[in-house]
Amino acid sequence: MMIPIVKPYIPPKEKLFPELENILYSGYIAEGEKVYEFEKLFGAYVNNPFSLSLNSGTAALHIALIMAGVKPGDEVISTVLTAEPTNVAIKLVGGKVVWADVDPSTGLLDPVSVRSKITDKTKAIILVHYAGMVADLNEFTKISEEFNIPIIEDAAHALGAKYKGQNIGGVSEYTIFSLQAIKHMTTVDGGFLCLKSQEAFDRARKLRWFGLDKTRPRLENDITEAGYKYHMNNVNATIGIVQMQYIEQIVGSYIENGKYFDKALKNIPGIELLKYYDDTSPSYWLYTMKVDNRDAFIKHMAAHNISASELHLRNDRHSLFKESATELPAFNEFYKKMVHIPCGWWLSAEDREMIVSAINSGW
Ligand SMILES: Cc1ncc(COP(=O)(O)O)c(C=O)c1O
Repeated sequence: MMIPIVKPYIPPKEKLFPELENILYSGYIAEGEKVYEFEKLFGAYVNNPFSLSLNSGTAALHIALIMAGVKPGDEVISTVLTAEPTNVAIKLVGGKVVWADVDPSTGLLDPVSVRSKITDKTKAIILVHYAGMVADLNEFTKISEEFNIPIIEDAAHALGAKYKGQNIGGVSEYTIFSLQAIKHMTTVDGGFLCLKSQEAFDRARKLRWFGLDKTRPRLENDITEAGYKYHMNNVNATIGIVQMQYIEQIVGSYIENGKYFDKALKNIPGIELLKYYDDTSPSYWLYTMKVDNRDAFIKHMAAHNISASELHLRNDRHSLFKESATELPAFNEFYKKMVHIPCGWWLSAEDREMIVSAINSGW
């Protein structure tokens, strides 16, 4: 059996099934009390009371871009190193994707490159905390203030990652999380948009449900802005509420494994470990590093029943983004060597040791 690179954590049957049965037969499976209870628990975890649940991380990105005021023709600075939804969402609002280059020691957006891409048309900067590593928030917060451009943190991979000792989710104007099937925590599908004020929260809440204000009776409503059908329902929220009992343990095991690899893989010829920025600590959704002869490395690991891969296609390869084509020399160098190995809750102590000794044996 191959050790997979991602795997959903589902709570024990005896904890989850009675709760699911209750809600399924309760007569109220739409958005209701379970959703609001889950939002409180999740909001406490990410230290942000303005945390709005949605049915996906993509929905959260879409609403964030609308709220940032991105209109057709406006520019959004982003990275090619991400899953496609980050950048597809920009196209949903008619924005132009502007690629900035990465810091070769992290693979995350380079503040110097981002600065050089800012124009009068820039309406937002999307920072992807790729694979659970946190972008250089110290620098990006300065850029955001200096140019008055909001930051959207795409933290789909980074639940439980920290900035200045606190779980991320309350730093920038917008932070999005994904609870999709393979993330640190899953509700099968789901997402969160974390905001900075009651006003923003109220607008986002309407945007998630046709533009209707769910806190008022239906017959007293007046839609002023078209919204979507992006809400979470009581069934997914019930899974989320049960997951919250395990979140410290599950996210904690990713982090513990990541720290183990940080130590055990130091000083191995052909491997370069990544740097973590000041005031940040990763939640290691994947363990990411740079290796020489990547293809040989991946084959070598597969021969030891360990999945290793680059996982994502650089997003500028898609025709959808052809108008954004630009040179990204630092990224090119980084991407040639980048590889992920498994780091999640499913690794036993023996698995971790086996992974390290497979790497130590050379490829
Ligand atoms: C970096 C990143 N952003 C956004 C998303 C979108 O999340 P979702 O699948 O919940 O829509 C994903 C995951 O698919 C992702 O990996």
